[in-house]
Amino acid sequence: IYRRATPTTLPTFLLIGPSGAGKTALATLIERSSVVPTHTSTAPLSIETLLPEPYVPASAHYRSAGDPAYERARRFLLLDTPGHGKLRHFATKELSNPENVRGIIFVVDAAAVADSAGLTESAEYLHDVLLSLQKRYTGAKTSKGPKEIPVLIAANKLDLFTALPAHLVKSHLEKAVSAVRKSRAKGLKDSAIALGGGDENAIEDDRENEWLGEGGEGEFEFRQMEEVGTGVVVRGGNVLGDGGADVKAWFEWVGEQL
Ligand code: GTP
Ligand code: MG
Repeated sequence: IYRRATPTTLPTFLLIGPSGAGKTALATLIERSSVVPTHTSTAPLSIETLLPEPYVPASAHYRSAGDPAYERARRFLLLDTPGHGKLRHFATKELSNPENVRGIIFVVDAAAVADSAGLTESAEYLHDVLLSLQKRYTGAKTSKGPKEIPVLIAANKLDLFTALPAHLVKSHLEKAVSAVRKSRAKGLKDSAIALGGGDENAIEDDRENEWLGEGGEGEFEFRQMEEVGTGVVVRGGNVLGDGGADVKAWFEWVGEQL
């Protein structure tokens, strides 16, 4: 008897980002092709879905519609995580063991990052996500390094007139992540001194491990993450808005990873 192999694990995309950025709104849009009112999430939400037409999974470019392999290649899992500061352990847990994670969609509110409090909140969370990806890469036992995990920064809410365009979201976040990196390093140093100095070498190792991106005096830039197997792109869109949703750039990115 002919039996079809059922895949036990689907490629997974994590939805991560600060509270209110629009992660659950995006997840429900993808699940039902319509937006329903959302509340701040208190638990993760997993959605099994298909890459819609006309987007094409990169692995299936030369296959034709109707080919079962083509249909299979469209399937993926979306895991929405709560962004509230006290509920980030759900996301952190996924990041610590990203077995089937094909990519991370870090959602930011492009209007919220126009002011410094919103920018700092997004940058702190983003810094920590990128640092955990970097540590996973540099701490890998094999010489090949672990599988690459790309990051899409989805600059959401571009329907709002106060929203920054995607290229400014990118440059603002790079600057703010640089500032977070500096203040985290200072915090480490201060606590090492408070603990009575200790082993100079151990402190230096710690500093290196906790430093995101390239060392030196320069600013942090997302392209530095390529060194550690993480391509980062920033693409704009909106889940809501009078003109309807615009999530094309995000679906294209998901297709590139499938
Ligand atoms: P947490 O669950 O707390 O982490 O937040 P979240 O990222 O899941 O945010 P959620 O999806 O609940 O959206 C927060 C608010 O932003 C909701 O009121 C949404 O309707 C609104 N929102 C989401 N996307 C957009 C958008 O593209 N434009 C506008 N104007 N509002 C949006
Ligand atoms: Mg939510």
